[in-house]
Amino acid sequence: MAISRTLLFAMAIAVFAGLGAHRAQAQLGRALISGIVPCSTGNLINAATAPVFPNATVQVRCGSNVLASTTTDSNGAFSISLDLVSSLLSALMNSCNLVVETPLISCNASLPATGVLQSALQLLQGGLIGGLLSGLLNLVPSSFSFIPLLG
Ligand SMILES: *[C@@H]1O[C@H](CO)[C@@H](O)[C@H](O)[C@H]1NC(C)=O
Ligand SMILES: *[C@@H]1O[C@H](CO)[C@@H](O)[C@H](O)[C@H]1NC(C)=O
Repeated sequence: MAISRTLLFAMAIAVFAGLGAHRAQAQLGRALISGIVPCSTGNLINAATAPVFPNATVQVRCGSNVLASTTTDSNGAFSISLDLVSSLLSALMNSCNLVVETPLISCNASLPATGVLQSALQLLQGGLIGGLLSGLLNLVPSSFSFIPLLG
């Protein structure tokens, strides 16, 4: 009896947590992450002047967790739309990065065959409040840097 009551209680909590997550999702809307991947090594690469990286796989990574992934078009451009739940909001602002695992040698034969491009995320102008009010939070790469990896 005690066990089944505990079980019922746990189920009720799970259902409420589920409803709560849904409500948070509906309230916060979506996050749209978009930008251009440069075909270049270096630190804090200026995407406006660097050559572009077509057909590159771009991941949204939060720690070791890959949240989403897409491929750049022929202009090196990508966009990723995510359900914006409250737990994701702080993660996007603090611990998530864009990671391009496709080696740079695929866009320019004289560039390295190992290493990744990585960038933090930043809010577009209009910021957090505007984004949350409109239900669409626009994020862009702050700027990509080349991270060489061993092997
Ligand atoms: C894009 O990448 C895919 C997988 O790596 C490859 O099969 C395809 O040929 C590439 N396309 C272009 C236009 O480079
Ligand atoms: C390829 O990379 C090399 C070395 O950074 C650079 O000098 C060259 O301009 C690049 N080529 C193109 C087409 O971007």
